[in-house]
Amino acid sequence: MKRDISCAINGRKRRFTAEPCITVLDVLRDVLHLTGTKEGCGTGDCGACTVIWNGKAVNSCLLLANRMEGADIWTVEGMMKHGKLHPIQEAFVEEGATQCGFCAPGFIMRIKALLEENPNPSDDEIVQGLVGNLCRCTGYQDIISAVRRAAEKMGA
Ligand code: FES
Ligand code: FES
Repeated sequence: MKRDISCAINGRKRRFTAEPCITVLDVLRDVLHLTGTKEGCGTGDCGACTVIWNGKAVNSCLLLANRMEGADIWTVEGMMKHGKLHPIQEAFVEEGATQCGFCAPGFIMRIKALLEENPNPSDDEIVQGLVGNLCRCTGYQDIISAVRRAAEKMGA
């Protein structure tokens, strides 16, 4: 049976009705129409569905809607401010870190959480931090360069 859920998404209070046993990914995409968050594997292996949940990067395909009550959730739609790309998004553009782009929203949210926890990561720390996100196109080097560039832009 559907239930009412209240939480904050991208800094805005949201109240909606959803089946408690559907995934957070399905709530974001199908109930709230925030389709920036992607479904790759649906089983916790690819990171395409990464969102920031109470300050931590999580795979939204592994969480159920009944956990959303009171949560603070950020998706890629919350990254732009006043019509301007977030520095991580700018760094992706400048380093050419996307090809098909399917993985990019998940990477961007993972990198946001990483840089908030560690504003000046070493190359090893970047690689470790991104280990849960897969990209079939880029070979990762441009994504790693984008993390370095984003860290510079964000004032590390
Ligand atoms: S869709 Fe969630 S980890 Fe792949
Ligand atoms: S750019 Fe295609 S999967 Fe990463």
